[in-house]
Amino acid sequence: MEQKLKELGMKYKEIFSDKSSVRYFQAPGRVNLIGEHTDYNGGFVMPMAINRNIISATALRSDNEIHIHSLNFNNTVKFTLDKLEYDKKDGWGNYVKGMAKVISDKGIKLSGMNILFEGNIPLGSGLSSSAAIEVLSGETFSKMSGKDIPSDELALLAQKAENEFIGVNCGIMDQYIISTGKKNTALFLDCRAFKAEHVPFVFDDIYVVIGNTKKERALVDSEYNSRRKECEQGVKEFNNIIGGVTHLRDVSSKQFEEHKDKLAEITGKRCQHVIYENERVLEAVTRLKNGELEAFGKLMIESHESLRDLYEVSCAELDVLVEEAIKMDGVFGSRMTGAGFGGCNVSLVKKDNVDNFIAQITEVYKSKTSREPEFYICTAENGVGEIVL
Ligand code: GLA
Repeated sequence: MEQKLKELGMKYKEIFSDKSSVRYFQAPGRVNLIGEHTDYNGGFVMPMAINRNIISATALRSDNEIHIHSLNFNNTVKFTLDKLEYDKKDGWGNYVKGMAKVISDKGIKLSGMNILFEGNIPLGSGLSSSAAIEVLSGETFSKMSGKDIPSDELALLAQKAENEFIGVNCGIMDQYIISTGKKNTALFLDCRAFKAEHVPFVFDDIYVVIGNTKKERALVDSEYNSRRKECEQGVKEFNNIIGGVTHLRDVSSKQFEEHKDKLAEITGKRCQHVIYENERVLEAVTRLKNGELEAFGKLMIESHESLRDLYEVSCAELDVLVEEAIKMDGVFGSRMTGAGFGGCNVSLVKKDNVDNFIAQITEVYKSKTSREPEFYICTAENGVGEIVL
């Protein structure tokens, strides 16, 4: 790490022609273990921050400008803190600008600065690289300006930037885990009460393995929005039937079964996924605390089937990765993770089996899809923060 930061510091000096001493911050990507499409339904999720991140190297400027450079995109974007408006030509820079905007709008005065970014979270793969750069920018801006934003507030600000500045109607899960993650734990989050518990998630003999379909996540935004609308319809209908329903979180599976015949087919399928998925997360927390990983893995598989058949957000490539994974020795469970329509799956695999797991699935996946998958062995890491050498 030290060597990497030294190199980044040297590149900072070169790119910005600035000899100031530099501070470093990092924000991880995330993988969701269970609880998919439940966050915007006021429900439960269980993500963890992963050992892939974005790092910023930064120093203050004497003016009111923000100059940012991404080594991944080999691209510089410049803007002034006096004019924080979305500009299509700024591309990735809008995530950074959006954070400056939501923080400034809160009345927090930011200083001008140069920031160099470099990351190894695969882009557009459903591992939340965009939430990571938002949260990282927020942390870099506030700490460098001598301000301290509590991590749950930072998560909400990053969600606001994504919703209002970028225009993507996401829930709170990604920004929350990236802001608050703790090493060796998974986050059990109640997305309505905003109550978080960090549940130990570290094993001697098991790996979390992420499989990347390498399929571009086509349609994800429009399908995501239509799922949200279908859930809102479900809320309306259940509120008419049983009352007191503001989120699908308020409906139990028993109530669902009692009244499902009154719902249109699509609404019924979407509601069934969300309602049972919430119950699966609650059970998963208990299973994890009891060390019952077989049972935990079974819940992951059920979650995948529900996302595939009821919520209809999986795709052929994700299904191949999951179906092949659960056939293999030493696998507790596997499911798609994130919004869906491409991106990644996540599996729990015994360490002794992991080489064979990756080799065999790579072969089958290539022959079935003509794509080359990638695998990442992941550990649960800390959320955003300064890296102090
Ligand atoms: C995306 C969104 C999250 C969440 C997931 C689905 O990652 O950003 O808020 O809704 O999809 O669980």
